[in-house]
Amino acid sequence: MKTATDFGVGQELALVERRIREAIRSEEPLITEIADYVIGSGGKRIRPTVTLLAFKAVGGKETDRAIDMAAALELIHSATLIHDDINDGGTYRRGRPAAFRKFGMHEALVTGDFLFARAFEIGGKFEDHIVDMTARVAAALAEGEIRQKRYAGDVNITREEYLNIITRKTAMPISAGAQAGAILGGARGEQIDVLGRYGLNLGIAFQIVDDILDVVGDGVVLGKQPGMDIKESNVTLLAIHALNNGSAIDRSELIRIIRKRKKDWGEVQTAIRMIREAGAVEKAREDALEYGEKAAAALDPFPDVEPRRHLRNLIEFVLSRTA
Ligand code: IPE
Ligand code: IPE
Ligand code: MG
Ligand code: MG
Repeated sequence: MKTATDFGVGQELALVERRIREAIRSEEPLITEIADYVIGSGGKRIRPTVTLLAFKAVGGKETDRAIDMAAALELIHSATLIHDDINDGGTYRRGRPAAFRKFGMHEALVTGDFLFARAFEIGGKFEDHIVDMTARVAAALAEGEIRQKRYAGDVNITREEYLNIITRKTAMPISAGAQAGAILGGARGEQIDVLGRYGLNLGIAFQIVDDILDVVGDGVVLGKQPGMDIKESNVTLLAIHALNNGSAIDRSELIRIIRKRKKDWGEVQTAIRMIREAGAVEKAREDALEYGEKAAAALDPFPDVEPRRHLRNLIEFVLSRTA
């Protein structure tokens, strides 16, 4: 799987990995084994990359604390992936069977909790403002996941509500990582806001692309099973577009499949075909591009330093990714 190591922070990312390795050590070997199974199987490391680049973009020099923060955020991310697969019935993650399928539901659940605890052990040492913000976005993430479940099968979900959900579950944590990087790099008020806005819009684009890949992605490249959103009745932006603009498709059939609780993969494939035929993929790509442009615009007032170019390249990476 492609990683985000080409953005000028390869050395720092290697140190983040080392910090994570230390953090997942436990006197219970099974916990370390499960954590290592998830963390060691890849992942793009987008979140630590954003934090490190934000830190560098504001002129941060002593990287130790930024590395700790980046490690804490990736630990939180890993915990949420383990829990998310339990929530969503995710079958594969990072090219391997989801942790709960390999090690058992209880074991995976507790390992997720353990990773959260380790993240807060590292992150709890920072300024109150950073700790508060991280705790808030971790809570928002959980709320986003529950909100998504609450709207499962609701074919009348609005674009605004969809955006609210993905903002909470994906964009806010990325934005917090950007802000924390900026704060640790010694940024002043406005620069922190600018990087926060960048992270928020990047995160929204990132999740829209994730939702696109659920429809058009290749499972082997993705490392996870496409079609899971339809399977789980998660009405993403693609389904919203298809339901609202798909005069070419049998709308009532798409609604029936989305609402159906237990559907077979044949029905999932039918729904995916309809979503594609409705032109929803192209529309969602336009939306992702729009948020990518907002992220880029947020960087405009920023001095044209090398990390800013990397932050821009990261937008391209997020928009064009296939994994
Ligand atoms: C997956 O995140 C969960 C989403 C927010 C879409 P990533 O796509 O960043 O997962 P990894 O870390 O690269 O595996
Ligand atoms: C992101 O949403 C979930 C988290 C923020 C943990 P998804 O449920 O779409 O993520 P994937 O597709 O399972 O990676
Ligand atoms: Mg999921
Ligand atoms: Mg997804």
